[in-house]
Amino acid sequence: MRALEFYQKEFISYLNQQASIKEPRNLYEPVDYILNLGGKRLRPVLTLIASELFGTDYQEALPAAMAVEVFHNFSLVHDDIMDDAPLRRGKPTVHEKWDVNTGILSGDVMLINSYEYLEGYEPEVLKELFLVFNTTSVEVCEGQQYDVDFETRTNVTIEEYLKMIEYKTSVLIGAALKMGAIIAGASTRNKDLIYEFGRNLGIAFQLQDDYLDAFGNPETFGKQVGGDIIENKKTFLYLKALELSTTEDRDRLLELFSGQTHEAIQKIADVKSIFRKTGADTAIKKAIQEFTQEAFNSLSKIEAPEDGKALLRQMGNNLMERSS
Ligand code: IPE
Ligand code: IPE
Ligand code: MG
Ligand code: MG
Ligand code: MG
Repeated sequence: MRALEFYQKEFISYLNQQASIKEPRNLYEPVDYILNLGGKRLRPVLTLIASELFGTDYQEALPAAMAVEVFHNFSLVHDDIMDDAPLRRGKPTVHEKWDVNTGILSGDVMLINSYEYLEGYEPEVLKELFLVFNTTSVEVCEGQQYDVDFETRTNVTIEEYLKMIEYKTSVLIGAALKMGAIIAGASTRNKDLIYEFGRNLGIAFQLQDDYLDAFGNPETFGKQVGGDIIENKKTFLYLKALELSTTEDRDRLLELFSGQTHEAIQKIADVKSIFRKTGADTAIKKAIQEFTQEAFNSLSKIEAPEDGKALLRQMGNNLMERSS
């Protein structure tokens, strides 16, 4: 097992070997743009580490890692259209730099490309990879639809919210790990445990994303701070604040999220002050720790060398502290 930075570097060098802009340029330039904007490369690195954890050289897992990262980037291009987001990784989003139609079609071709990266695996492995990847892709769409539906619903529960983020975000993190395990021929129990590790880590990850969306530093976050508030997203922060607030703050919060037009900067400031006053900001941090701990519980049950598990634990701890 090597250090985290090694897997990141190897993945990026593989990615650089792939990217080439073809005709029609207006289809492929945005693909190249988004894939080279950077990002944490969390999911592909997890695929590589999972394959090594179960005894197979990471190089075997590079195409699957690429499939996962291209799928992730496709989902971001479409997500930014849906969320009306101006910034991604500190740069204009695809639909801002080009236009919405370009974002739709470039996203579509990336989705198909992601499947193409799996074509080279042996039939038995390929079949198993497809099963995970297909289920996950459908769930991501379902999660994204719930996320949008919740914007205009006033009775969303925390349980529903957790299901929504499990689908839109955490299943892909579970799948990234499981795909590495499949390539390595891990046992069914180990494959299930690593998926479970990723699923809980992914929930913690999306909770942290929600936290940063409100409280992140605009210098490092890379996205529009307050974007979720502008879009009336029913995040954990919002739902907890409703639960913990006085009647007065509750009414104010409901009014701010009622779909009436509010000046964005003022709305963000008012909502954040209620998030703080109610202790929703502390509650989300606690939930992040709990889901990470739950993830670590699954990790400890995996039958694999300690150094590999330590690397995954290190990644989990880093994610809780991240600022982007
Ligand atoms: C952003 O994912 C979308 C979410 C699921 C929150 P990342 O935070 O992994 O984005 P990049 O790839 O590092 O930019
Ligand atoms: C995105 O959730 C999940 C997917 C892209 C499937 P968010 O909308 O919270 O992600 P960001 O904050 O835009 O990265
Ligand atoms: Mg978004
Ligand atoms: Mg979204
Ligand atoms: Mg977000």
